[in-house]
Amino acid sequence: MSVFQEQLARCLAAFQVSTAALQTMAQAFAADMQAGLQGSPRSLAMLPSYLSTPTGREQGCFAALDFGGTNVRVLLTELHGDGTLHIQNRLTRSLRDPAAGYDHIGPAATATALFDFIAAQLGELLPPGPAYALGHTFSFPIQQTGLNRGTLMYWTKEFETQGVVGQEINELLGAALKRCGRGDIQPVALLNDTVGTLLAAAYSDVHCDIAAICGTGHNTAYLEPHHPATGKPMIINLESGCFNGVPRNDLDLQLDAASESPGISHLEKMVSGRYVGELARLACLRLLPYGLLAGSPAAMYLNGSDCLDGATLALWAADAAPRYVGIRRWLTEHCATIDPLAADCAALQAIAQAVLTRSARLAAASFAGILQHIDPELTRPHTIAVDGSLYEKAPGYAAALQSTLQELLGSKAAQVTTRLVKDGSGVGAAIASAVAVRS
Ligand code: GLC
Repeated sequence: MSVFQEQLARCLAAFQVSTAALQTMAQAFAADMQAGLQGSPRSLAMLPSYLSTPTGREQGCFAALDFGGTNVRVLLTELHGDGTLHIQNRLTRSLRDPAAGYDHIGPAATATALFDFIAAQLGELLPPGPAYALGHTFSFPIQQTGLNRGTLMYWTKEFETQGVVGQEINELLGAALKRCGRGDIQPVALLNDTVGTLLAAAYSDVHCDIAAICGTGHNTAYLEPHHPATGKPMIINLESGCFNGVPRNDLDLQLDAASESPGISHLEKMVSGRYVGELARLACLRLLPYGLLAGSPAAMYLNGSDCLDGATLALWAADAAPRYVGIRRWLTEHCATIDPLAADCAALQAIAQAVLTRSARLAAASFAGILQHIDPELTRPHTIAVDGSLYEKAPGYAAALQSTLQELLGSKAAQVTTRLVKDGSGVGAAIASAVAVRS
């Protein structure tokens, strides 16, 4: 084996996590959940949602706002009351458009401008007339004190807008709606996207009690059968990206040290689309001195942090050997690298696959931890609803997640179904407003 092949193998091995390590992680995850419920939180935030799963009989026309990425979405959804629904109208807008001269999520952005922009999109979609009850999916850690009340604890993902942390989110939105003359649109519910995805899936599937996002961010919510505050079922937003009981390699430590929030959010930094590209980049940098892409301008390109993202890894992972048409095109377009060696393309592909597979396996271990907490003997069926670009688009990701659950749960894995629930966060917001209006 050449020195290059040896170093590549070493790098790939660092992303392998054994079944035993995943079992240990699942146990630690379950223990963290228990501690959080008893009021001595460790790394999991265990945030209450003030919502239980829907009955499927929720009915009526509701507005929804889905806020959590660079695109904001607004929807008008009709719930039919029989587990089915119809999206009557929708609109998607970018919160950042340098060509149009605005950026509502960067460090110079303000809360007033951000919420005025969102209110304008709502005003555009919803014709004045009837009053609208609005569900607001806000995909960040929110400390809730009621179904419609909650403050932003801290921003995650690429958001940095000033004046939002610590504020009542739906008060900011309500004030903006009034400023633009649309006081007829009333925010009635506030929820995380994982909670929305759980509601959307559970509207037609009584077995759904876990929902996760495996996209730019990573997080999971579950239905706690006996919430200590009420003794009743309540959906809890784990903010599982904050979980710290994960086995890390030296590239994880390097990424963490250089990140905007060193020392926290270990799971997020190993699983989410926001970071997997950076992990792959660091792995490539390790291999440059051993001849990866030798003599090509790619080395220079890879020196720039955040130059790879989840979509690039998905493209590399999906390419077909031995021609590697996709990787070759990517190298030409991004790094002016013509005619790379097949061995270099194979190495990039192997790195992408290793990082993505580990992401799926760690997410699966966290699900195993939740199942251990809610139904250790797996006596009943469970559906895990998953949304997000990695789960939906990265080749092999959903399969790796499913097979890892099998590995961890053995024959009882037959009780557990994982399925894609697309755009659940918007639909879930409509369901949450129905619940709010009813109560
Ligand atoms: C980040 C946010 C979390 C959200 C997730 C998926 O991890 O902190 O609240 O659910 O991204 O959008």
